[in-house]
Amino acid sequence: MRPLRPLRLCMTPFIPLWNNPESKAQSPKANLKSKISSRKSAILSGSGPRQQMGNELVQITAVSQPGLAAEPQSSPDASPGELKTFYIETFGCQMNVHDSEKVQGVLLGRGMKPVEDHARADLVLYNTCSIREKAAQKVFSRLGAFRKGNGGAGKVIGVLGCVAQQEGERFFDRAPRVSLVCGSASYAKLPHLLDELEAGNRRVSGLSLDTDECFETELTRRDNPFRAYLTIIEGCDQRCSFCVVPMTRGPQRSRPSEKILAEARRLVDEGYTEIQLLGQIVNAWQDPSSARWSFAELLSRVAEIPGIRRVRFTTSHPRFFSPDIVQAIDAHSTLCDQIHLPVQSGSTAVLARMLRGYTREEYLEKIHCIRKARRTISLSTDVIVGFYGETRQDFEQTLSLMKEVEYDQVFSFKYSPRPNTLAEANGDALGEEEKARRLAQLQELQRQIQLRRNQALVGETFDVLVEGYQVRLGQAVGRATTNRVVNFPGSPEDIGRYLAVKVSGAGPNSLVGARA
Ligand code: 5AD
Repeated sequence: MRPLRPLRLCMTPFIPLWNNPESKAQSPKANLKSKISSRKSAILSGSGPRQQMGNELVQITAVSQPGLAAEPQSSPDASPGELKTFYIETFGCQMNVHDSEKVQGVLLGRGMKPVEDHARADLVLYNTCSIREKAAQKVFSRLGAFRKGNGGAGKVIGVLGCVAQQEGERFFDRAPRVSLVCGSASYAKLPHLLDELEAGNRRVSGLSLDTDECFETELTRRDNPFRAYLTIIEGCDQRCSFCVVPMTRGPQRSRPSEKILAEARRLVDEGYTEIQLLGQIVNAWQDPSSARWSFAELLSRVAEIPGIRRVRFTTSHPRFFSPDIVQAIDAHSTLCDQIHLPVQSGSTAVLARMLRGYTREEYLEKIHCIRKARRTISLSTDVIVGFYGETRQDFEQTLSLMKEVEYDQVFSFKYSPRPNTLAEANGDALGEEEKARRLAQLQELQRQIQLRRNQALVGETFDVLVEGYQVRLGQAVGRATTNRVVNFPGSPEDIGRYLAVKVSGAGPNSLVGARA
């Protein structure tokens, strides 16, 4: 699963919309329309929280929808223990973002209201990420605010997600103001844990990883009015030696095909035209129902739902990547021409130490299969530099693989040893300086590749789903099916529309053009 990272070019403010709790009585389509129109007014007035629009979102902070509902205040009148308002902040990958959307569904279902400032919330939640040390530290800096003086008095503070799972009940000692610690494998228990908090219990936890259940919610509060996330598989059974995820998200468990299809149809009824299927290893999905569909069949069935215009899926693991996925993309124009296939390293020796389960050559065979597709499929990847034992030659192999594949986007990271992983004992041999040098070299190479690839698109016309508008520049911004960002002169009315845009210029991270 890719981590959340901002786009470097095209910093259009992304203003997430929220289901107004008062609007539950509206028809879903009307609800989506009101989301989009209130987003437009937020953009025009420059109000609302700022969030970079990107392939990867940075953080999401709970806000009330501007101008629709009176902002609930903290609740001095609440009966003892009653939690009336909540604030949630999310760090990490799309899975975390979507988990937070579902957690909010649980809270809204209990009659709680979101607030945009943690100071005004009865319940403050941090949904955390521990993929690298830096990400894991973020929650502790947030919690530091509650240590000073009387900060957070009267509030219930909870930590969710991967750091919660990793630290477990030690959290209560490290951060005594924390009352709730819950890992993602235990979210189904959240209603019960919230009951306990309301009953006055000040240390409750959900930390069992022993589950075969997925987190199903009746209500989900989706933040992005254009792209609906839909989880199809949770957890991870791989044992990549660098990765903390199997220890924090629990065993792999797939949702049945009929539940996934029913949710996808519901999303279309609500007005969504783009769905992104999510899983730590999305293509390891195995249908637990009697239909026994393959992942490629599931993609096809979702792509065929009337009203769907774009289906994406992330993250695929090369080990499970089979040609029928490419055949499904060939057969369904609604399956986006975009695949994220993390390679991690271009050196077979490093891949073996990472326990990735493929060689450089096997990975390149999968790429070859993707390159033979009828449409040009946009390719992105994740790379780790400076894994233990990575020699200069190993690193050169990664650079040569990048030159060979010519990815459209690369997410690259310095290796960060993680607790309880198989590689932890081997330490961090390379040191920060050398890792930073290698990362900079790799990123410069990729910048040149992206610039070249994007410039080759000048003159082509793409179907762009408009997701934002930059008031200052008078520019609309959206995405092509390849997930490329496209800017063009437009108006706020364009938001939410699919428009044909002819490309006239390109940078390494985005395209510019004009309505065709
Ligand atoms: N150090 C650095 N990067 C890591 N990733 C996962 N674990 C680590 C780690 N310990 C990267 C991988 C993965 C992406 C989500 O984060 O590239 O695909």
